[in-house]
Amino acid sequence: MNNAKPTVEETLPILDFGSQYVQLIARRVREAGVRALLVDPATHAEELKKLNPVGIILSGGPSSVYQADAPRCDENIFNLGVPILGICYGMQIAAELLGGKVKKGNAGEYGAARLTVAATPEADDLFTGVPPSTNVWMSHGDQVNALGNEFISLAATQTCSLAAIRHRSRPFFGVQFHPEVTHTPHGGKVLENFLYRICKATGTWRMNNFMETSIEAIRRQVGTGRVICGLSGGVDSAVAAALIHRAIGHQLTCIFVDNGLLRKNERQSVESTFRDHFHIDLRVVDAEDEFLSALKGVTEPQEKRKLIGKAFVDVFKREAQTIHDARFLAQGTLYPDVIESGQGYWRTAANIKLHHNVGGLPAELGFELVEPLRELFKDEVRRLGEVLGLPEPMVWRHPFPGPGLAVRCIGEITRERLDLLRDADEIFLEEVVAAGLYRSTAQTFAVLLPVQSVAVMGDDRSYNPVIALRSVDSSDFMTADWSRLPYDLLARVSSRIVNELRTVSRVVYDVTSKPPGTIEWE
Ligand code: XMP
Repeated sequence: MNNAKPTVEETLPILDFGSQYVQLIARRVREAGVRALLVDPATHAEELKKLNPVGIILSGGPSSVYQADAPRCDENIFNLGVPILGICYGMQIAAELLGGKVKKGNAGEYGAARLTVAATPEADDLFTGVPPSTNVWMSHGDQVNALGNEFISLAATQTCSLAAIRHRSRPFFGVQFHPEVTHTPHGGKVLENFLYRICKATGTWRMNNFMETSIEAIRRQVGTGRVICGLSGGVDSAVAAALIHRAIGHQLTCIFVDNGLLRKNERQSVESTFRDHFHIDLRVVDAEDEFLSALKGVTEPQEKRKLIGKAFVDVFKREAQTIHDARFLAQGTLYPDVIESGQGYWRTAANIKLHHNVGGLPAELGFELVEPLRELFKDEVRRLGEVLGLPEPMVWRHPFPGPGLAVRCIGEITRERLDLLRDADEIFLEEVVAAGLYRSTAQTFAVLLPVQSVAVMGDDRSYNPVIALRSVDSSDFMTADWSRLPYDLLARVSSRIVNELRTVSRVVYDVTSKPPGTIEWE
């Protein structure tokens, strides 16, 4: 058992008032080497203090500060003596709490605006290295329009005379524009100035530190106990397993359920990575028959998801019970999952599809959870995967839904249809990888349609199924656009699928964006 003390790293809490850009703020701060955490905007000053904050950022948000139900923050945060940067709504709420006035602007300001920075020493702290006239991205209807004597104006645009401000005696700064978006070309510099010149951050947060700190934390949590980790074939559970293995070695047992709904060679790649390369105790459960018989005759997508979710829990539970001394269950929960699973503040996600993940194991299994990736975004998990030495194709693998090929095999699921889909999918992936386009697309896959179509091959007329190709570009999977893949690549894929598989008569390419079309067909 490792008794190392927890490291209290310098942290920058971001009070999340519901901005669509809040995750970008966190990312920019982390890229600058400071650990950023999104927190409930109502968090008490005393709680924030425990995080050892080097500074605090108040995010933007959709509300108006003069609405009765507008989210507010604890006024005492301004007495912590810690530098605070308010962005958009965050600047407005702070100005209001510190004696300023916020009103609806004569005109809203959305999109690019020209910012003129005051040539004063007071503006230097935030704007050193930023040209005196520069483009910024605005998105606001309200604005601060009367400041108490306590504030100084630092910059203005044509419609917003107080586009950046600072308090005379407290370390508070506010910007009406969004420094975190790429449309504000010098926004990174503004954030850096805040972190380094104003907060005096050391900027030492790196993936290696994260790995070392997590290893210590895992050892502290688990002691000599045994941990089970469900592998899904995806990057999150793979990175969680590799990290936990680095921390506790043979105390980890991984379970991989082969549900018969996997991509081509997926099981083999998990086996070779985890068993052969990392020498992890890996149990592979061959549950194909169980899943396929549960799905027999089922065509309704949500019904498929429910049955798969239930079968997964049954199989996993059975296997887990054979590992007698296991007390902990590891999950690859990521930061966006933590935020979206309703820590409650300002986020509602319409439940369009009933998702099933390996993460969705019920509490009744009775394990204590180990979730070492709870603080990370997806790209950070990938970086950690590389640091841990996971193979590149596994680290960069596109996300794959929990119900697997069941939601890409439209209509009834049979072994034959799944095999056909797997082969078509593999051809598509091979060609996209060979064209060097795999990493620039977010998800690329084949879908087997429940449609027959006529083809003439030689002198024979055939009546065979249709394969749809789907490839999307997306950064958050909430919105997506179809990938503009080169025609000759699509031609090669189509020709290979109809020629090599023979039982496919037609290949079509899906050109639907999300919204309205979801990424998966079901
Ligand atoms: P949609 O199809 O809703 O997908 O645009 C958005 C993202 O979610 C994935 N997806 C799922 N993931 N269980 C999962 O674990 C599911 O049931 C499920 N359905 C969709 C999809 O692949 C995409 O990345």
